[in-house]
Amino acid sequence: MPPQTALIVGASKGLGLALVKKYSDLIGVTNVYATIRGYMDDKEKSSTFPQGVHVIEDIDVSEEGVGDKIVEGLQGAAVGLVVYVSGILKPEEMGKANWKDEIAMYTICAIAPVFVVQSLLMSSSLAPEAKIILLTSEAGSITLRTQGEGGGMYGHHGSKAAGNMVGHLLSYDLKERGVSIAMIHPGFLKTEMTKDAGMEEFYDKMGDMLLGTRLTAVTPEEASGPFVEFAEKLNIDMSGKFWAPSE
Ligand SMILES: NC(=O)c1ccc[n+]([C@@H]2O[C@H](COP(=O)([O-])OP(=O)(O)OC[C@H]3O[C@@H](n4cnc5c(N)ncnc54)[C@H](OP(=O)(O)O)[C@@H]3O)[C@@H](O)[C@H]2O)c1
Repeated sequence: MPPQTALIVGASKGLGLALVKKYSDLIGVTNVYATIRGYMDDKEKSSTFPQGVHVIEDIDVSEEGVGDKIVEGLQGAAVGLVVYVSGILKPEEMGKANWKDEIAMYTICAIAPVFVVQSLLMSSSLAPEAKIILLTSEAGSITLRTQGEGGGMYGHHGSKAAGNMVGHLLSYDLKERGVSIAMIHPGFLKTEMTKDAGMEEFYDKMGDMLLGTRLTAVTPEEASGPFVEFAEKLNIDMSGKFWAPSE
């Protein structure tokens, strides 16, 4: 069964925006809450989101207090599904590691989720048997990083691994409340994130590069289908684990 209400954190574009549209169709616009980092005027809101979605502005997950701000934006609603999508990818290589970029990536991927979940839980903003999904990445898997792919990407891959651990730990705190949490890899997506990182040339070649599997890039809209199916299946026995629903 789809959730009665959904909160998408990091909904301005990419997968987050695709999920807002998908859940708006599935459960109705007034049951969808979408956070964005900045502000949008009415015209921009209506050209970005389906009319009627609750847009919660000024939610920068790299800022302390973000969890309480999200709770405030929910205005008393209790959500059945929380999807934490916010993420950044700043490529690094040996000799060019970047301190500030690493702090930003770890903060967004592995620190903020703790505070967002904590605020939602402590304020009773999670519906009974709510589900939480953190978008991490298979980039956080130590086993999948091989000599062939080499090193670099310290902050991105390291923060995704940390995000997986944080979600695992949260699962123990959430279990007694009947809330499940999963960390997922959404697939290789044709979004600004991968484009800005210069990965566009791999959109059709990734299958050859990664374990010889069927991994080619998909649009966020294509990825949102398997995502929704996974979210419906997620239950307390699956909680605390990392999943790749589209592979
Ligand atoms: N793309 C892939 O192939 C891929 C693969 C594995 C995992 N993932 C993960 O899946 C998620 C979605 O990826 P995507 O490709 O859809 O990325 P995207 O198109 O770049 O969108 C990223 C989203 O995160 C938001 N965000 C960034 N910094 C933020 C901050 N400080 N506070 C609040 N929101 C912030 C962005 O908002 P602004 O518009 O304000 O920047 C945007 O809404 C990410 O966590 C990513 O790491 C993606």
